[in-house]
Amino acid sequence: MALTKRAIPRKYLIHFANEHLDFRIAELKSIFKTFNYEINIPDKDVRDPFMILELPSLDCVKSVASRAILIRSVYELWAHGTTFEDLNNALRQLPKDFVEPHTSRLETFKFQVTSFNKSLSNKQKRDRIECLPSDVLDFQGKVDLKNAKHIYHILEYYGPFGHDPTDQPVDVYFAKWITDGQRDKINEFHLQKRHFIANTSMDAGLSMIMANIGGVKKDMLVFDPFVGSGSLLVAAAIHEAYVLGQDLDYLLLHAKARPSRCNEKKRAQDESIRSNLRQYGMEKYYIDALVADSSRPGLWREITLFDAIITDPPYGIREGAKKVGLHDKDSLINGEIKPGAQHFPQRLDYHLSDIFKDLLNFSAKYLHKNGRLVYWFPVNIQTYSPDNIPTHPCLQLVHNCEQKLNTRLSRRLITMEKFRDFTEDTKEAVIQVDHFETSTFRDMYFNDNNLQKERQNDGQNKLSSDLNKLNVT
Ligand SMILES: C[S@@+](CC[C@H](N)C(=O)[O-])C[C@H]1O[C@@H](n2cnc3c(N)ncnc32)[C@H](O)[C@@H]1O
Repeated sequence: MALTKRAIPRKYLIHFANEHLDFRIAELKSIFKTFNYEINIPDKDVRDPFMILELPSLDCVKSVASRAILIRSVYELWAHGTTFEDLNNALRQLPKDFVEPHTSRLETFKFQVTSFNKSLSNKQKRDRIECLPSDVLDFQGKVDLKNAKHIYHILEYYGPFGHDPTDQPVDVYFAKWITDGQRDKINEFHLQKRHFIANTSMDAGLSMIMANIGGVKKDMLVFDPFVGSGSLLVAAAIHEAYVLGQDLDYLLLHAKARPSRCNEKKRAQDESIRSNLRQYGMEKYYIDALVADSSRPGLWREITLFDAIITDPPYGIREGAKKVGLHDKDSLINGEIKPGAQHFPQRLDYHLSDIFKDLLNFSAKYLHKNGRLVYWFPVNIQTYSPDNIPTHPCLQLVHNCEQKLNTRLSRRLITMEKFRDFTEDTKEAVIQVDHFETSTFRDMYFNDNNLQKERQNDGQNKLSSDLNKLNVT
């Protein structure tokens, strides 16, 4: 059956990057929402790197690609089949007036063959190109391998990565390249090249994915209540949002903690979150980082303040998470400090479940309506259930994506959206089933048999390097 004229240009092929598979759809949906597009996303095996989408315009394609970290490229889809024969038949159905504008002598072009989960020899690639129906794809322009105006791709999918490739492709596509996603930004903002980093700095790619899922855009105010070295602020400022953070650790914020790079003895004097933003020409978006305790939100005025809260709370692995307490209970009247009483900040254990409940209570109060809270929640894969995720009457769960840390542990990126105003009567956050009731995440981490064995074999250095690899506190 011939495709209708209008349907063809509206079909696009998304080629996802082969990482963070569980985050692809959350990122894609969130970017569409940021640009106010309502797009139907088909249900698909998340391991399949190709997805066909009907998109309303080229502008929509370009907007999405201008943000997406998990998109490799976007193509205009010309034909799709499950065999080469199918593909060629579909190409033969293309209306002439769809192909014709590309066949003029002035239109330089080249072909490219890309296969997923199977390597193809140059000869196989040439054969693929030679088998295309030349009567339909009657391109009269010159082949230009360096600077072609149109790049036509044959894309072949041989099943999910990590599985034996199928003999014949599962899907074959013929498509014209339109644009690439933002993979280059991962290198541009890589932590290795960043002026100020800490032991738990969030990697650049994940930080940018978080900003996308958080719906960050120009002129927003974005807050990170566990800011550390400010990686999430950098990611938000890329989109011209104003950024503000807070952290309990004075030494960290003032770059007086031990250097995090193994070949460095001393930190440079000007290391700071501000200097990171300056490094990328984004200093004007930096508001400040406060030394403050996230368990005590009393310093904020009781009005909604933030468009997005994006954060990575401490998981308490390196040392149990802490909050500030009062030195002496006698110095309190009705929970407030007695006038004139001396206050020596005290470090109390901060239970992980309380960290999350406080974070939700804070977000429910201080996010503007429709603002998003995006945060990491670490779990033991075997015992995790969705009931472990805290809930709040003002916040609805939008996405819950998993990043595996090893075979036993993972962390889940939780995205919630404020859909109801906070009032005096609003109830507090609750956790239906407390994931950390019987053991802390630190216990879960150290109960990992493999890690324990490695620790015994290799000593404490190995532990440090494991933690560094995972970038977790
Ligand atoms: C996982 S790290 C955040 C890393 C950060 N995203 C970055 O890229 O550097 C968690 C941070 O929470 C801070 N923290 C721990 N307890 C806190 C509290 N009660 N209030 C505020 N910050 C706290 C720690 O000092 C640490 O910097």
